[in-house]
Amino acid sequence: GIVVSSLLKNTGMVTVDPGFMNTASCESEITYIDGDQGILRYRGYPIEQLADSSSFLEVSYLLIHGELPTATELDAFTDRVNRHTLVPEAFRTFLGTFPRGGHPMAILASAVNALATYYPEALDPHDDEAVELATVLLLAKTRTITSYVHRAMKDEPLLYPDAARGYVDDFLRMTFARPYEEWQANPTLVAAMDKLLILHADHEQNCSTSTVRIVGSSNATLFASVSAGINALSGPSHGGANEAVLLMLENIRKGDDSVETFMKKVKNKEDGVRLMGFGHRVYKSYDPRAAIVKKHADAVLDELGAKDELLDIARGLEEIALSDDYFVERKLYPNVDFYTGLIYKAMGFSPAMFTPLFALGRMPGWIAQWREMMKDPQTKIGRPRQIYTGPTARDFVAVENR
Ligand code: ACO
Repeated sequence: GIVVSSLLKNTGMVTVDPGFMNTASCESEITYIDGDQGILRYRGYPIEQLADSSSFLEVSYLLIHGELPTATELDAFTDRVNRHTLVPEAFRTFLGTFPRGGHPMAILASAVNALATYYPEALDPHDDEAVELATVLLLAKTRTITSYVHRAMKDEPLLYPDAARGYVDDFLRMTFARPYEEWQANPTLVAAMDKLLILHADHEQNCSTSTVRIVGSSNATLFASVSAGINALSGPSHGGANEAVLLMLENIRKGDDSVETFMKKVKNKEDGVRLMGFGHRVYKSYDPRAAIVKKHADAVLDELGAKDELLDIARGLEEIALSDDYFVERKLYPNVDFYTGLIYKAMGFSPAMFTPLFALGRMPGWIAQWREMMKDPQTKIGRPRQIYTGPTARDFVAVENR
């Protein structure tokens, strides 16, 4: 609940709302969520329809510009993004300088932040042309950087982008093809990746998006704001959960715990163990994104000939959870992260790459939210208040007298 205090006389009343359970930070026209009914819409369009019929760049345009593009607008936007997919040559060395075991999210956040140093003409947050350029640069180059982070981790040579290919098609080629290989995309894989990116594209005022907005509220650049968002996303309570889910499933498969023992630990809150990929601040019913991913996981794994025992373990955990009082009373359902990792794994990504893939998908949402905030006349620098609980005034004591 909200604790109300009137300790600070200059503002009248201050509300204390840890975790912002009941505090709206803004008005927004971008994404609608009804957490009780499990509804998610981007700019009014149901997520199910967009996942079925749209493409990631079309959804990006929709989120950022507010309307679905005409065919001409979509062509121009796609073309512009694809023509910016090259990254500065120095990045190829820069990305190779991180330790092999370094987490890809740390590398991705650093690289996206560093982009700002190459594009001074894209930095002014109040210049429409600069913001449009920064938007295209971020969509285009984050894709290339994500595939380079994957390859650098494996000590594999970095491939140049091919602007003639589709956004997702070329991303998969740059990530998985051998140099000089005549690479043919598996259409099932491209379609699945496109769908996953759409499902992650925005989710209103979550932890990373609120971070992007609060950093931007100081008039920091879009690059700086989005880089902060990537760092916020990295935590296991947020985007990092997709990696944590896979590690949890693998531990169960290895026999560290049976499904039943593991669930007992979760319910007894032993060592803070949680069923990763379950629960959500806003959804108190099935996450509509998880429903879509679950529906497709089997088909994608089948198509790739990658039947995975982990999928059965995940289904087993879900079955127990959905009929168990602990989860039912707390309204804990699978969230988007519960099944996504199984698809990414089947595609050939290592678990450490799962959250960077989330970041790639969330990029248009962060950009759209940042742009909306910058144009909102109500925007002020984000600056929460506090209730001070420390010592009252006391005199300094010299070190020799302590
Ligand atoms: N496993 C077991 N118990 C859980 C879980 C879980 N995954 N999630 C919540 N609970 C329990 C809590 O222990 C708490 O129980 P209590 O009332 O007995 O104390 C109750 O449910 C409410 O949990 P809170 O942590 O207060 O809920 P909050 O809204 O703050 O947290 C969160 C939401 C962080 C997503 C949480 O459900 C969680 O940690 N889930 C696992 C991590 C995860 O999957 N994160 C991804 C979220 S989606 C996304 O960011 C893309």
